[in-house]
Amino acid sequence: MSKVLVTGGCGYIGSHTIVDLIDHGYEVISVDNNSRSTSRLLKGIEKITGQRVKNYKVDLCIFDDTHAVFQENRDIEGIIHFAAYKTVPESVEIPLQYYENNINTLINILKCIQEFQVPNFVFSSSCSIYGNTRELPVVETTPPGAVQSPYARTKQVGEMIIRDYSGVNSTQSILLRYFNPAGAHPTALIGELPMGRPDNLVPVITQTAIGKLEKMQVWGTDYDTRDGSCIRDYIHVMDIANAHTRSLQYLQGKRNQANCEVFNLGTGNGVTVLEMIHAFEKVSGVKLNYELGPRREGDVVSIYADNTLARQKLGWRPRADIDEMMRTAWKWEQALNEMRI
Ligand code: WQD
Repeated sequence: MSKVLVTGGCGYIGSHTIVDLIDHGYEVISVDNNSRSTSRLLKGIEKITGQRVKNYKVDLCIFDDTHAVFQENRDIEGIIHFAAYKTVPESVEIPLQYYENNINTLINILKCIQEFQVPNFVFSSSCSIYGNTRELPVVETTPPGAVQSPYARTKQVGEMIIRDYSGVNSTQSILLRYFNPAGAHPTALIGELPMGRPDNLVPVITQTAIGKLEKMQVWGTDYDTRDGSCIRDYIHVMDIANAHTRSLQYLQGKRNQANCEVFNLGTGNGVTVLEMIHAFEKVSGVKLNYELGPRREGDVVSIYADNTLARQKLGWRPRADIDEMMRTAWKWEQALNEMRI
């Protein structure tokens, strides 16, 4: 059984990816200092898979502590690196902490991969590196635009670091550019756990619907789109998770043509904010208390993916539609409410 190390395994996408990896026969260990997560999702993983996943509560900014994990696990076949700060507005307020955390953790992981000759590496990147591009849908060769936040720049720089590293090392790498992850595992045993007030649209919708938030704003309805609100490519977190498993299988099967390849992870469907709100109301039967507000600084008007490359080379297919994303997100929010979380 191949052993995979998942950094940020207690987080939203990390926890869902661990479930998919275990479902496909991988042995998984996690490294997560729980600075932005808790170990509660590990309990959910165990209930879903029957497997207890060991988490090393290690700050990956500390090289010696990171190195010790690799010393103890010399049979690691692959690394999936999620651990990073990822809140766009926060990155604007505290840019140095974002650069320090997101870049230092990556460099420490790559140093250990080099020393312990780990063969395969998958990096959690983001569609935010495309910035405000006019070329839609975006393909992997669309030139990265003027990015809108320090968070996005840490992902752009991270990709460049990995490309340079891959050029002179035998590790095979894949960069996965997520569009907008949404939804939760159908069991509602794991899902998104925003720390404090959420920034992302779907948790704001479900928290407003459950009453945790009194109301919500639609940030801007005067954009040049079909209903004036921003367009994004929302993709179910389980579809994102499966793409990571397929990426590892692709590298282990030596099907890659280059040391470092990049894939868009989106559905290819652009959906507006107002359409998301109406989809939620239809699926949940709950009328949302929302107001039409001003534009949010740093928002791109419209972005959605061309996912042909991931379909063709990884054999990946996004399966869930917007209704499924809303259904599972709502079921998760209701489960949190029952547990008073
Ligand atoms: C989506 C739309 C808001 C909240 C995210 C992640 C980023 C990256 C890309 C992975 C925007 C609008 C939101 C609200 C609103 N993913 N909105 N009212 O900004 O596209 O970025 O996906 O790396 O990490 O943050 O996502 O969900 O914040 O916003 O109107 O209360 O919803 O203006 O148009 P975004 P988001």
